[in-house]
Amino acid sequence: MTDVEPGDPYAEAAVPLRARLVRRVVTAGGLGDPGWRAAFAEVPRHVFVPVYYRPRPAGGGFSRFSADAPDSRARASWLAGAYADAPLITHIRGGELLSSSSQPSLMAAMLEALQVLEGHTVLEIGAGTGFNAALLAHRLGGEAVTSVDLETAITQAARSHLAATGFAAVAVVTGDGSLGWARGAPYDRIIATCELPFVPPEWLRQCRPGGLVLAPFGGGLIALRVTGAHHAQGRFLPAPAYFVSLRGAGAAAHPAPEAIGPEERVRSTTTPPQVLDSELFRFLLTLLAGELQTRWAFGGRGAAITAPDGSAARADRSGTVLLAGPRDLWALVEEAHALFDCEGHPSRDRFGMTIHGDHQWTWLDHPDGPNAWELPRV
Ligand SMILES: C[S@@+](CC[C@H](N)C(=O)[O-])C[C@H]1O[C@@H](n2cnc3c(N)ncnc32)[C@H](O)[C@@H]1O
Repeated sequence: MTDVEPGDPYAEAAVPLRARLVRRVVTAGGLGDPGWRAAFAEVPRHVFVPVYYRPRPAGGGFSRFSADAPDSRARASWLAGAYADAPLITHIRGGELLSSSSQPSLMAAMLEALQVLEGHTVLEIGAGTGFNAALLAHRLGGEAVTSVDLETAITQAARSHLAATGFAAVAVVTGDGSLGWARGAPYDRIIATCELPFVPPEWLRQCRPGGLVLAPFGGGLIALRVTGAHHAQGRFLPAPAYFVSLRGAGAAAHPAPEAIGPEERVRSTTTPPQVLDSELFRFLLTLLAGELQTRWAFGGRGAAITAPDGSAARADRSGTVLLAGPRDLWALVEEAHALFDCEGHPSRDRFGMTIHGDHQWTWLDHPDGPNAWELPRV
């Protein structure tokens, strides 16, 4: 693979944009590993995102950017966007975000945390555009990389982007990644690029003992060291990470907010909705309470949270809480906030996850400590 691909009209213009993106990620403290720096400097992201979308402000739909836009300014804007340190939405259905190319600095942090060595094999869950698979292939060789995605339209596009950039040897598979891909197992590393509600047990069986599973969970990234087919443990990386959710059989069921009935109970609280402004607090709350959705309510004067079991809570800044469904979700916010304060606003890397047989739990500081939360099995 060369920097300037024959037949790619954007190849030359992309070289300085790519170099600038690498400089930005390095200045921000990323890409310390020269192998990953070279991968980012040489793999042309623009080939993987011939079309992408950006949300318009205030829920006004999406703007489309494409390599074949009729006017040259629009094409230049597409190319510059392809080398911004930003996630790029590539597939939307009915307003739902299905696939994207992740933020390059976040991809770099994940690839470094994966601790790959020459000769390793990697399974990626969430092929998306194929860009991450290409970076892995640049480092380890295409034959070492298998990447799975749910839909043919996505995998076909990923295959064609990989072929166009010289990485046709990557195996791109259409299937439900929550089952892993047994045919290529065992893998030394498994990396997911979609948010999990639960770590699929098949992944541990398909990962070599001593290997690593790295996956988005609860708005963070968990790095699990696999010690056997049914055991793994590890800590979260310090940085936040938000990904599209895993879909298919292993996905969490979330009721649409409309499915939640009228509020049944009213009470007061001294833990106001502003506590949800803290991204670190929301992370702790997700670990403690399981998967929740948070959104602003009362015209921005409060917050609403919903859980997959149909529970809902809405609190306004005056301290009034409206509750519906089987659980008092605001009691979980109160409990989580008391712990957050008591522990001095703990950073993500104080939290971890343990998998032991059928049980998976997250914890603060210690797997057997008082602050450990069993994950509901999906
Ligand atoms: C953030 S995108 C992947 C980005 C990709 N790694 C790249 O470099 O462009 C997440 C992907 O996960 C995929 N996905 C979601 N659920 C999945 C599942 N159960 N199995 C496989 N892929 C899944 C989505 O279709 C989407 O393409």
